[in-house]
Amino acid sequence: MAETKIPFARVVCSGNELEYVRQVLESGWLTTAGKAGEFEKKFAVQVGARRALAVNSCTSALHLGLEALGLKPGDEVIVPALTFAASAETVRYLGAEPVICDVDGRTGLLRPETVAAIAAGRPKVKAVMPVHYGGQSVRMFADAQGPGLMEVARAYGLKIVEDAAHAFPARYQADAGPVGSLEETVCCFSFYANKTITTAEGGMLTSGSEDVLRRASVMRLHGIDRDVWARFTSAKPSWRYDVVAPGYKYNLPDVLAAIGLAQLEQAAAWRLARENIARRYYEALGRLEALDLLQLRSGLSPADHSWHLFPVILKPEARLGRDEFIERLAERGIGASVHYCPLYRLRYYRERYGLDPADFPETEKIWAGTVSLPIYPSLTADETEYVCLTVAELLGG
Ligand SMILES: Cc1ncc(COP(=O)(O)O)c(C=O)c1O
Repeated sequence: MAETKIPFARVVCSGNELEYVRQVLESGWLTTAGKAGEFEKKFAVQVGARRALAVNSCTSALHLGLEALGLKPGDEVIVPALTFAASAETVRYLGAEPVICDVDGRTGLLRPETVAAIAAGRPKVKAVMPVHYGGQSVRMFADAQGPGLMEVARAYGLKIVEDAAHAFPARYQADAGPVGSLEETVCCFSFYANKTITTAEGGMLTSGSEDVLRRASVMRLHGIDRDVWARFTSAKPSWRYDVVAPGYKYNLPDVLAAIGLAQLEQAAAWRLARENIARRYYEALGRLEALDLLQLRSGLSPADHSWHLFPVILKPEARLGRDEFIERLAERGIGASVHYCPLYRLRYYRERYGLDPADFPETEKIWAGTVSLPIYPSLTADETEYVCLTVAELLGG
């Protein structure tokens, strides 16, 4: 196999990462303190959120968000099939059940009308988890296409936990705020190593609900509530605390928050760089007979999309199958990946819920041929052209 010249993902730490990490190392305190707090404040400003809570992964944020909303064993949560395992597993952590549903085959996104149809017939559905797949947001507000998820959720009394692992920075639509700014939802971001910004491992939870923020901040660190203790004592020794619930260990250490702070400073420029690569891919690859490209949802412009992923979909009649295509790309030094094997095809979910791929025709259309191409800010114009030329050569222009 050829040396990989163009990996699928490439982390950039070209800003103040080393300097901010050095400050933490020299401070004598590596875990959660001032840098994590600063990261939360600056992130909240960037996404227009009332408050942000830094955690050690998006998975933790999803778990905390569902828990803070009061999800109970036996409750149901609508989760789209085209997502990473974390979206559904966090529902199971709480003994609740994911109701796995089809997505729109043109965009890869959960459709509000699908949510309405499911919620109408299943009284146990208490919440929905829109996944802003690849970095474009699910339709949250009504438009010419129909009601938005916010209206549907209100009509059926559903809570919303947004899986925004891919969607920083992104917007709900031109006249709405950034993803993460909605007061009524809980929104969860990922800073995993290959995400749009990274802390190696990390995540963030935003919400406008004081109750959610309070519960999630207590549960993220062992259920320790210092304020509860403060209520019962006037002289407040700093070592005193009370535990109000069996919480988790989900805090983000300062040494990682320091990397996040530096990455945050570059996030807007990096999003634009990815947008420019996506524009070039649409131009060059949109012409190929053998490929379908995901569409931008109505109401969104390219500037509203984070462009975390660039999936292309090989048509059934393409001259190469998906696995062979990925192998040929690798032989030519290009890394590729697949997002995702749908939840209903993973053994645990397939067997537990008796799921049949035939019931997910739109997701199947994407799954059958999907391949994600490299898209990151350090991908040069020459490398982008090389990817375009190689894909055309392999599939026939
Ligand atoms: C859609 C989606 N949700 C959740 C996650 C979990 O993120 P983390 O690795 O930060 O827990 C990922 C990670 O890849 C993801 O792609």
